[in-house]
Parts: sequence; structure tokens; C-alpha cells
Amino acid sequence: MIKGLIPAAGSGTRLGPFTNAIPKELLPVGEKAVIEHVVEAMKLAEVDEIAIVVSPHKHGISDYLGSGKRFGVKLTYVVQDERLGLANAVLSAEHVIDDRFVVVLGDNFFFPKSFLIDLISYHSNENAEATLGVIEVEDVTRHGIIRSKGNYITDIIEKPSPDLAPSKLGSAGIYIFEASIFDAIRRTKPGIKGEFHLPDSIKVMIDDKKKVIYKILDGIHIDVGTPMDLMKANNWYYMNKQCDNPL
Ligand code: UTP
Repeated sequence: MIKGLIPAAGSGTRLGPFTNAIPKELLPVGEKAVIEHVVEAMKLAEVDEIAIVVSPHKHGISDYLGSGKRFGVKLTYVVQDERLGLANAVLSAEHVIDDRFVVVLGDNFFFPKSFLIDLISYHSNENAEATLGVIEVEDVTRHGIIRSKGNYITDIIEKPSPDLAPSKLGSAGIYIFEASIFDAIRRTKPGIKGEFHLPDSIKVMIDDKKKVIYKILDGIHIDVGTPMDLMKANNWYYMNKQCDNPL
């Protein structure tokens, strides 16, 4: 059985001042909080045990999602004491993860909700150590950008300037990992703004000659990081109302 992990301990400064009062993962896309769409996608992929990483002040997320019973999943809340970056958020959950697990960012909106099913079976069939869901991105400065050979990732650069980007393929905030990622995170050096970035930990795995692969995701992906993104996600949702039908 594969467990799920949803990082939701960020500060959401780009969505301020709303995020002074409400975690951005609880802002609505359609009739549901953006993180609720992620929980539903995990349930659809039979990921029934999910750890949610929250910051010490984000009680709103557990107030909203509760035990998970409403969604047919079991939720565990893990606290990231300090906002030290996404890799550190993942490491905060090490004690509740056994081996293989899937990470989906709690502020990302995807359609169709079946996006995880294919990625999990692809990872298993390939016997990979890490599999990244990637998309062709408009703005390379917002993503971890990959260099690839076949389906292998040979390099990944966190938020490069356009002239340094090795491609237009960027991480979509969906990852399948084996437990070896935790060791890689521990050996990751702080990067931009002194934070520990997940692409830098993935680079450690690549340097260790672990099998790190990618799959291009079909469908819609909106990283709800700014008010404009939130509007885009809602526009898309209401223009495609049938999207609440999970398949
Ligand atoms: P972002 O990179 O969007 O950062 O996080 P942020 O802090 O939430 O937002 P800004 O940059 O201040 O506007 C992507 C996802 O990773 C989580 C966030 O909650 C979000 O779901 N995250 C980020 C953590 O859980 N911990 C961190 O230390 C950083």
C-alpha cells in the first residue's frame, strides 16, 4: 500500500492578505478547498492513508478536513516547525512514512482527478526510486526544470532564469518516492532564500545514480500561488463544471 503526503505548511505570502486569515490550501476552487481536490485524487488512486504537513499556526486545515472520514481516507497531521522549504516539509513526515509514498502539493489544482493512478503504476512498473509528474511550463522561474535522456532525469534546476533552463519541462508538484529520498534530503544544502528545495534533493538522488524518471502529465495543472492563479483555477472549474466528476 502506498501512502500519501500533502505539504501544506507554506506561508502563502503571494496570496496575502487572505493568507493572514486562511491557509491558501483552503481557498476554494469551485465548491471545494483546493487541498480537498488533492485528497479526492489520492482516494481515487487508492491512497487511503495521507499525512498532511501543516505549520504550527495552520489549525484551519485540520478543522476543515478533520479525520478524513468524510472522504473515506485516514488523515494524519504532521507539524513542520519552521518554514524551511518543501524538502524540509517532506522530511517532517518521515516518521509516518514506511517506504513508497506519493507527494502532491496542497495548493495545486489538477484535472482529471485520475492523474495519480497512471503515475503510480508507471513508477512501480519502472522500478524507479523517484518519479516526477512534469508539464510543459510557461514560466520556468516558478518550477524545478528538468534535463532528460529517454525517460530518465539527468539534471534538475530549481527555478532557473530562462537563459539557464535546460528545457521547458517542469515539476508539476507531484512526486512518487521510495524512502531513500529522506537520506537525500538530509544531504541537501540550502538553496534560494536559505530553504531546502525538493529539486535539489532529487539532484542528490541523481548524483547517487538512483533511477529518477519523469512522465508528462496530461490534463490541467494550475499551481494556485497568486490571486490570478486562483481566478484561473475557478474560471476553468466553472467553465468545465463536469470536472467534479472525478474521471
Ligand atoms: P510555495 O512554494 O508556493 O510556498 O509552496 P508558499 O510559502 O506556500 O507560498 P509563497 O511563496 O509564500 O507565496 C508550495 C507548497 O509547498 C508547501 C506549501 O504549503 C504549498 O502547498 N510548503 C512550502 C511547505 O509545506 N513547507 C515549506 O516550507 C514550503
